[in-house]
Amino acid sequence: MSAAANTVDAVDPAELDVLRRHWHPVARSDAIDDGPVGVVLLGRPLVVFRSGGQACVATDRCPHRGSPLSMGSYDDDCLVCPYHGLRYAADGRCVAFPSRPDARLPKRLTLETLHTRESHGLVWACAGEPASDDPPDWRFYDRPDVQTIQIGPDRWLASASRVAENFNDIAHFSTIHRVTFGPSDRPVAPQKITATDGGFTSSVGVYQQYRNTLDGSVEEVEAAYRYDFTFPFSCELTITYPDGEIECIQLSALPESATSSLVFQQSARTNLGNDPVEPWRDFQAAVNEEDRVICEALQPREVPFRLDNTGEVALPTDAFSIAYRRLWKSLCP
Ligand code: FES
Ligand SMILES: [Fe+2]
Repeated sequence: MSAAANTVDAVDPAELDVLRRHWHPVARSDAIDDGPVGVVLLGRPLVVFRSGGQACVATDRCPHRGSPLSMGSYDDDCLVCPYHGLRYAADGRCVAFPSRPDARLPKRLTLETLHTRESHGLVWACAGEPASDDPPDWRFYDRPDVQTIQIGPDRWLASASRVAENFNDIAHFSTIHRVTFGPSDRPVAPQKITATDGGFTSSVGVYQQYRNTLDGSVEEVEAAYRYDFTFPFSCELTITYPDGEIECIQLSALPESATSSLVFQQSARTNLGNDPVEPWRDFQAAVNEEDRVICEALQPREVPFRLDNTGEVALPTDAFSIAYRRLWKSLCP
């Protein structure tokens, strides 16, 4: 990750209230196998760790003398504080103090834990009472017939709402991605957005450059794009190519602050056979970089869904962003 998180720009209290009730990705599953990691969720430092095989998320502060637990390590299936070595279990309880094995451990030596789930390659956390039982059902990632890649997490100095809205924007491919996707002067097809339990779904045909993985040839094809969006920031795009290959791109943004996000992306793809995944990962990373630059430059920094006069003008290709803003406004009047 490049720039430091901007944790100064506090999220609006009404939005904070909404965001605290939803799932946010906090780490890749493999990132916590060898030690804890620290992240910031909505301005709050958290430690993500594994104990007894279980992924856990807690406030990143040891109640003894305030050490960040994300600087710690693992021992005997416990999270070890880096300062004086207190051991914490999955439920946040302090279970051992090796310097004084017989010492009575006060109950207050307990970490504040968050609701945590681990699924499809990622660890998710919810800071309040979850509005839904589980994070998005990204099961395509675990299909037995796919190859997978994970990218990031990468810090974007942009609001998570801008990141999510951009992922679902279908009218920027020939401009922002003209280098990676190739130029195209084809019109953008109409897109109908349908509400689901957790967000939206839509399907649209998109002309794009497609590299045949068998013979390496590149041609322009019309691919079927299906978007499945889970409020507030989780996006899944399933692309079906004319030859039957399916590529599924999953992206979610951890809101560190109002203007800083940690972007998690992973993709699964059929038909890749034994081809190396590196060129595919490099391509996706290049696409993301093009998106990051424009997302960080947009003004205002957050999607202005709560303003009556946003100073923006909607276009016929903005079906997703119009629905997204309406949903935000209904939850956060
Ligand atoms: S600060 Fe954690 S054990 Fe002392
Ligand atoms: Fe993009």
